[in-house]
Amino acid sequence: MSVLFKGGTVVNASGRYLADVFVDGDTIKAIGTDLDNPADETVDANGKYILPGAIDPHTHISMPFMGTYAQDDYESGTIAAACGGVTCVVDFDLQQKGETLLEAIERKKALAEGKVCVDYSLHPAVMDPRPDVIAEVKKACREYGTPSFKIFMVYDFRVDDATMIQLLEETKKYGGLVQVHAENVYIIQHMNEVLEKEGKLEPYYHAVSRPNIAEEEAVYRASKMVELTGSRIYIVHLSSKEGLWKVKEARNRGVDVYAETCPQYLLLDEERYKEPNWNGAKYVMSPPLRTKESNDALWEGLRGGDLQVVATDHCPFDFNGKKDMNGKDDYKKIPNGAPGIETLLMLLHSEGVVKGRISLERMVDVLSSGTARMFGLKDKGEIAVGKDADILVFDPDCKFTITQSKLHMNIDYTPFEGMEVTGMPSAVYSRGLKVSQWNGEQMEFVGEVGRGRFVKREPFEGF
Ligand code: URP
Ligand code: ZN
Ligand code: ZN
Repeated sequence: MSVLFKGGTVVNASGRYLADVFVDGDTIKAIGTDLDNPADETVDANGKYILPGAIDPHTHISMPFMGTYAQDDYESGTIAAACGGVTCVVDFDLQQKGETLLEAIERKKALAEGKVCVDYSLHPAVMDPRPDVIAEVKKACREYGTPSFKIFMVYDFRVDDATMIQLLEETKKYGGLVQVHAENVYIIQHMNEVLEKEGKLEPYYHAVSRPNIAEEEAVYRASKMVELTGSRIYIVHLSSKEGLWKVKEARNRGVDVYAETCPQYLLLDEERYKEPNWNGAKYVMSPPLRTKESNDALWEGLRGGDLQVVATDHCPFDFNGKKDMNGKDDYKKIPNGAPGIETLLMLLHSEGVVKGRISLERMVDVLSSGTARMFGLKDKGEIAVGKDADILVFDPDCKFTITQSKLHMNIDYTPFEGMEVTGMPSAVYSRGLKVSQWNGEQMEFVGEVGRGRFVKREPFEGF
């Protein structure tokens, strides 16, 4: 299958220019002016952007959590991804007790087989840090193609600081990257006890129980471990201005601390928890939504480069049936997480680029090129000859009102209900195959279920 995209504006993180793009098979074969390569399909991209597909490096597909499962499986989750312009997903793979990392990877690959609709990779999450598991980091970096390792400083399956240090040392040897959910568990436990005694158990108190200082302290502690070991770390879903200050402080001293944030932390604030009819439960996620001050600080962090990636933390639980399953009378029992894989690009373009908070090129960097670099996706993240033809034909003027019924994620709500966005994909290509298109009212999936591939990622060579 070959496709010729005519007359679009090619946008990479480094700049933009008018050009035609020719794709044959899985990859981009030529970029130039007045290309006339014969092609199976010619796409008129006049007035449109040609963007590299977005990459979401933070998803929880079919993840067992808090007595239930995150609802999207690889089919529904990656159909939604394709419809949102996300052409590669790096999903968390939670190691179970007794498992090796390879067993965890094979288990999750089996879930994706025959279902996944765009390319994907996995980050093993280390939850049973036995010596043989720490020793497996070498193989994960060099053989399995999974050189990033998630750890949690909170939840029952958290690891201690000693494990963090061991992983930082081991990843430094082999070009890996530790990713950390940074919140101080003791602050949260203390706040939970205080709130319980006071009978404060509504969704709003989820935010009170996890104050900014819990993130600030954990980011600081993780940064100090990086300083100690001379390794690198990546803070997932950074939410607060205080957490960002700690990232900035470390980076200013040359400590390799990287961080991602998510649209919910850029655009929503803790007032959401006060919505009537228990609606606040829709936003129960960890870390919680903060204040407008933090929203603004995170935009500044994106502009200035202290934040390098925007991801979604896609972790969907139905409002009716899951959020209220055990948590109606106690915020601590509400499954933590919210959907977002499909709304990532539209929100970042509309709220970021259209509103002048970040440039179009910066958007491409934090959604695609920078993400590919961070996670060793060497064939993704750029419109360039030889790269995978993960391509978005993007109409910057197309209007869409976000509403659950027009989205594809397997969940009964979106936190962004009613938001009007400007800019939507006209068509999305994954390795040269069209996987979704705008039908005048909404995106529709037109790809092949099961065509996505596991992508082996490269370790970092810069140590
Ligand atoms: O609330 C969240 N973020 N749920 C998913 C698990 C995690 O901590 O990333
Ligand atoms: Zn997390
Ligand atoms: Zn997460």
